[in-house]
Amino acid sequence: MTAINGRSVLVIGIAGSPRRQGNSELLLDTVLEGARVKGATVEKIVLAGFKINPCRGCDYCRSGQCIQRDDMDLLGPRLEQAAALVIASPIFFYGVPAQLKAMIDRSQVYWNRKHRLGKPIDREPGRNLGALIAVGATRGEKLFTGAILTIKYFFNALNLDYTRELLVRGVDASGAIREHPEELAAAFKMGQDLVIPITGL
Ligand SMILES: Cc1cc2nc3c(=O)[nH]c(=O)nc-3n(C[C@H](O)[C@H](O)[C@H](O)COP(=O)(O)O)c2cc1C
Repeated sequence: MTAINGRSVLVIGIAGSPRRQGNSELLLDTVLEGARVKGATVEKIVLAGFKINPCRGCDYCRSGQCIQRDDMDLLGPRLEQAAALVIASPIFFYGVPAQLKAMIDRSQVYWNRKHRLGKPIDREPGRNLGALIAVGATRGEKLFTGAILTIKYFFNALNLDYTRELLVRGVDASGAIREHPEELAAAFKMGQDLVIPITGL
């Protein structure tokens, strides 16, 4: 892992779309590239490649553990270790896609650890940065309201602050984001800006 000023910086991006190389994933790649050029170690997790069962609502996680064994066993430690976490999502019916929502719902274990058991994920100040990239086809004022709330409370469960967002309206066809250089530039800057407060560089 890259060490800057004696500190290692891991930025993890979660591609939440089932569509590979779609608009949100291309923006995520650009954010991660911005973080990488500032010296961070970056990792992209494509949720479409993971098997995540829906939450069963069984309340077993009040114990601080999830009863289900699947790819959340791989993802959970990554969510805990990231200094900065970037969620990239298309808007599906004014919310986030099912795979991403499954990961979020399964993170109820972190909500319970933090709020019921008093054992939040231990994060240092400045290493608790959460960011959202969201893309939708239409242009309504409330297009991102549902996704923002979901991601804010997800970040809270992970002890991450909701620090940055890049919300893109009016982009639909796969890869159409390539025709929006201003959004790609904003994504690159987001990646750089995420890392600067951690490294001081
Ligand atoms: C199942 C489904 C639901 C969608 N719902 C919405 C919606 O509610 N509002 C909207 O503006 N776009 C909606 N879209 C369009 C996507 O948000 C849009 O195509 C986006 O660019 C996809 O991003 P991606 O390429 O990262 O998957 C929907 C697309 C799909 C497949």
